[in-house]
Amino acid sequence: MFGRERIEYKTTEQILVMRRAGLVVAQIHAAVRESARPGVTTGNLDGVAAQVIADHGATSSFLGYHGYPATICVSVNDEIVHGIPGDRVLEPGDVVSVDCGAIVDGWHGDAAFTTVLPEADPADVELSDVTERTMWAGIAALATAERLGAVGEAVEDVVDASGHEYGIVQEYVGHGIGSAMHQPPEVLNYRTREKGPRIKPGLCVAVEPMLTRGSRMTQVLEDDWTVVTADGSRAAHWEHTVAIGPQGIWVLTAADGGAQALAALGVTVVPLD
Ligand code: MF3
Ligand code: CO
Repeated sequence: MFGRERIEYKTTEQILVMRRAGLVVAQIHAAVRESARPGVTTGNLDGVAAQVIADHGATSSFLGYHGYPATICVSVNDEIVHGIPGDRVLEPGDVVSVDCGAIVDGWHGDAAFTTVLPEADPADVELSDVTERTMWAGIAALATAERLGAVGEAVEDVVDASGHEYGIVQEYVGHGIGSAMHQPPEVLNYRTREKGPRIKPGLCVAVEPMLTRGSRMTQVLEDDWTVVTADGSRAAHWEHTVAIGPQGIWVLTAADGGAQALAALGVTVVPLD
């Protein structure tokens, strides 16, 4: 639920540092996406991410977070989020969700994408595509709505319009982000009776819907991290870190600020400088 803790509203200068962190995350995504193919281990992908972070003089938001042992999360098939990279060898048709965060000068960026390895099951590709669309719809709602609850409404609307009976995960949600990776407010991916806090300049949040091809119920594995679907169905996860600047919205973890994806939804992004 929406907490009542204080929200850290950012100055434009702080958002500009967050954009640097976000652009490191975008580069990690590009490098990991390039490397993800059958035969590669999830640990290999972690190494690729660690190298990009080191190359930029950044640090990982995840490594050491509550004892988390890796640079990124790699969640495969029925794993939804928080999969720990290791010896697992990726196979043809795997649904691979990659989540990573970077810190630059104390400020965080956090983003995730899902890719389906060849030979992909079209139903898995559809799941990932719909999940990505829910994320962009949630981000567009941030640009146009008054209150944060609009994000969850937008996510639900896209799932409903897709015609699929996908599960929308509820135990894990988006979040405020800035001088820490996880801050208030929570960003829910479903409708509630609460409208949530006002969306206003300085608000920076990670929007991160997770959908499954089956039930929305989740379980945590013995490693105390990996979150899987209770029914074994496959899951997808997309995430961006988004800033509400003085004049409008900018997606900090997208190289183009989200310009292209949001234009398709009638939203014009506003550069921060
Ligand atoms: N990035 C995840 C999120 O989107 C959090 C990962 S927690 C970690 O909120 F410990 F695995 F890093
Ligand atoms: Co996040």
